Amino acid sequence: MKHGWRLAAAAAAAALALGAGPAGAAEAGDVAQRVEALLRQMTLEEKVGQLNQLSGKEFTGPATDKVRSMETEIRSGRVGSMLNIKGVPDTRRLQALALQSRLKIPLLFGLDVIHGYQTVFPVPLGESASWDMEEIEESSRIAAREAAGSGIHWTFAPMVDVGRDPRWGRVMEGAGEDSYLGARIAAARVRGFQGKQLGGVESVMATAKHFATYGAAIAGRDYNAVDMSEHLLHETYLPPFKAALDAGAATFMNAFNTLNGIPATAHSGLQRDILKGAWGFKGFVVSDWGSVREMVVHGYAADLPDAAAKALVAGSDMDMESNAYSTGLAAQVRAGKVPEALVDDAVRRVLAKKFELGLFDDPYRFSNAERERAALNDPRHRQAARRIAGKSIVLLKNEKAALPLRRGLGSIAVIGPLADARRDLEGGWIVKSDAANLASLVDAVREQAGPGTRVTYAPGCDVACRDDRGFKAALDAASAADAVVLAVGESWDMSGEAKSRADIGLPGRQSELFDALRAIGKTPVVVMMAGRPMTFENVAEQADAILYAWFAGSEGARAIADVLFGAVNPSAKLPMSFPRNLGQVPISYQQYETGRPVRDEKNIVYKSAYIDSPNTPRYAFGHGLSYTRFAYRDLRLSASAMAPNGKLTLSFTLANTGKVAGAEVVQLYLRDPLASVVRPVKELKGFQRIELQPGQQKTVSFSIDRDTLAFHNRKLEWVAEPGKFELMVGSASDDIRLRDSITLTER
Ligand code: GLC
Repeated sequence: MKHGWRLAAAAAAAALALGAGPAGAAEAGDVAQRVEALLRQMTLEEKVGQLNQLSGKEFTGPATDKVRSMETEIRSGRVGSMLNIKGVPDTRRLQALALQSRLKIPLLFGLDVIHGYQTVFPVPLGESASWDMEEIEESSRIAAREAAGSGIHWTFAPMVDVGRDPRWGRVMEGAGEDSYLGARIAAARVRGFQGKQLGGVESVMATAKHFATYGAAIAGRDYNAVDMSEHLLHETYLPPFKAALDAGAATFMNAFNTLNGIPATAHSGLQRDILKGAWGFKGFVVSDWGSVREMVVHGYAADLPDAAAKALVAGSDMDMESNAYSTGLAAQVRAGKVPEALVDDAVRRVLAKKFELGLFDDPYRFSNAERERAALNDPRHRQAARRIAGKSIVLLKNEKAALPLRRGLGSIAVIGPLADARRDLEGGWIVKSDAANLASLVDAVREQAGPGTRVTYAPGCDVACRDDRGFKAALDAASAADAVVLAVGESWDMSGEAKSRADIGLPGRQSELFDALRAIGKTPVVVMMAGRPMTFENVAEQADAILYAWFAGSEGARAIADVLFGAVNPSAKLPMSFPRNLGQVPISYQQYETGRPVRDEKNIVYKSAYIDSPNTPRYAFGHGLSYTRFAYRDLRLSASAMAPNGKLTLSFTLANTGKVAGAEVVQLYLRDPLASVVRPVKELKGFQRIELQPGQQKTVSFSIDRDTLAFHNRKLEWVAEPGKFELMVGSASDDIRLRDSITLTER
């Protein structure tokens, strides 16, 4: 073992000698030449400096010894990038320090701009429920414009980890359980952040993170180990990263977890063989915060210098906040444990991005007060936030025409711990709360209910809801009202990093508040806010209407009110399965048939089933209702058979048979019922968001080709095997409306 990584070092250095490094001079024009010219002048210490990233949180406070020492490091050219520095004044001040270094190499400023910079959009899992790639790209573009105007060069987003375990709090940051949807969302976010070409002063570098398999942490416990087959890795967890790379992601960030016993930060199979080798990635890899140092704790590195060597050799180019490279890497090179050629490769990758961003031509080009002011005060950003939030809110249930609420009601009581929330609406991972400028749900209902409607409010309890002392006031308010809206769920800090939950139910006694309202005959419309799927069986069974609003962002409350009153017809679809209970987790629609499938919930004897719960989720992947109805008719295939290099078209008619305009996300699923490795009972292979006026109908088409049918076989080859394939079209993974089958011929 202890020699293994050294062999990897030699192999990696050899590969570089063959020109497998960043784009050669011919491909990347003068950038490569300028990089080489600069690299030749650099000492080993200066090279290592470019691979060192420090957090600047301290810079926002008093000038401590730590701040002074960091300033010295920056002035000496021993820091290549800072994170957590934002705003024109601070970015200009620190950039000026870096330009005092011998070679005047500018700093890169990175920041977690995850779902907005100042204008906050729905948390990524919520925005993914829109299934609207244009809107997702737009929100990323707006975030980039606001961040870049404030001196930020680089966002640590999109997070593209597939997430199938709602106990893991970071499902909030991703695109849910499905690799196909996640890949398209990853690409849309990269396009939005980076624009057409890196270097525009209204775009930032994107980061595909966390490479890789972080979302499969054992037991949903953050930072936990991951054990995964190569097959599942290639079939499900890698495709969104490949999509981000194909969309041009400038950087990758690795992950805290081990994968099959190897820390991702030192996993040369992931970072060198796949990412920089097979995929030909030309950008650079930044470690996650302190993940180089943590390899000592994992028991994979003897000490910090050993961790530095193992991480660099495995393809981690930049060290975020471990101080492993800055304190130990040069010595490891001089001791012959790390080929300097590998350090040079890492430095080339970092310098190339600084040249591509134009920072050598003008180090201050992103830090522009006028552009910052214009971006941060553009009203179109809040308009977009409201529109996108409205497309992200999922109508889980709507019976007895409970929704939309009629305008002109005498009174509406808005009840619950999240009814008057503002900070919670923003969710986690925001740059700086703007809660003071947010409307709460009570505010928004008052704005939209109309002058003649009395709107009352009572919290009932706080989010933790450990006691029912406030229930009476809430019940009194509800008793006096014509309609009741109950806002329940998580607080913003119950989802996100280091927020795994062993119980994903409604917190505390919130469910009892719902029961108490029902007991007085005031069944409320339920609005749920959370960063993850929760379990809420009593509410799901007994409520007439449920909206899942996630954490909907700066304009989230107004978007919820838009949906409550019907100004917006909900169109969102779940990007993650909602379990009935924790016992079903991890749960995904992409299940396997098994040898004893449940055909009828009443007959589960010796079947793959629970004796105390159905197998089916409470709400399925792709589920989401509308205020109108859609009919799926007349499925047509351009052919019933296809040669391996052929293609065919599946078409059908979608009609809006209801009374209001609406949008439907139609979903195409595939099943390969007989293959050399068993295939899931369903796989998403296409979707389209179709807007229709009442009575309008439209032909919807999907193109089917070999790639639609292909999968990784047991040798991890991407193959489509001849035979029959089932095609399904539906409104959700558990709501298939049309189906047919095709045959892939031998030739
Ligand atoms: C955090 C997260 C990562 C984030 C980084 C910088 O620990 O894991 O997603 O980008 O550190 O804040």
